[in-house]
Amino acid sequence: MKKNIITIDGWSSCGKSTLAKQLAKELGYVYIDSGAMYRAITLYFLRNAVDITDKKQVIESLENISMEFAFNEKSQQSEILLNGENVEYLIRDLIVAEKVSDVATIKEVREFAVAQQQKMGKKKGIVMDGRDIGTTVFPKAELKFFMTADIAVRVERRFKEMYEKNPNVSIEEVKNNLEMRDYIDSNREISPLRKAADAIVLDNTNLSMEQQLKFALVTVEKLGK
Ligand code: CDP
Repeated sequence: MKKNIITIDGWSSCGKSTLAKQLAKELGYVYIDSGAMYRAITLYFLRNAVDITDKKQVIESLENISMEFAFNEKSQQSEILLNGENVEYLIRDLIVAEKVSDVATIKEVREFAVAQQQKMGKKKGIVMDGRDIGTTVFPKAELKFFMTADIAVRVERRFKEMYEKNPNVSIEEVKNNLEMRDYIDSNREISPLRKAADAIVLDNTNLSMEQQLKFALVTVEKLGK
């Protein structure tokens, strides 16, 4: 069967990665979490106290960063390695989430990440989620989704996820973080979060995981016709 590129963009915590993982599994595609790359870069910057207003420091730091995804048999998912270290869990911390959108506004950071993402899509057969995948990374992708869900539902979902790992997290912190990231992501100069003109909107506020997968699979099937 012909292999395609499927892109999933949308607001923070609206289930993009859940759908992307489901689709990749069903179709035998590779799943790439582009947000994990921005989060890993942010973690590196935090650890090395990189001043993100200093272009020289940013460029030099990027030269020392290598990122790859490796499939973890135990968790049954692909996880990100930063200079060989598995940081998949560390990058989900609020400390990283609080800085990532500022880091993702930097031109050099975006060029660095986008070039690697485009390389990963060379062989097609890929589902990639993020903010600019259908608009900038793969503008010619065969299928594009733009996901959304009510803010209250998104906050609730992300709070549950984070609370399991850290019971000290508050719902207000999570809500503020999602709203702040959505604001920065959709107002930045380079590749702001936008629905691509040819993207299909998927609002999953009232959909179960099974229902959203079904919706996406029906759309994928139509591609072959
Ligand atoms: O999972 P969630 O929707 O909360 O976010 P994520 O996909 O892990 O992305 C984290 C952050 O990375 C976003 O808020 C954006 O600031 C940035 N990002 C981006 O600028 N472009 C992408 N293609 C993906 C993420």
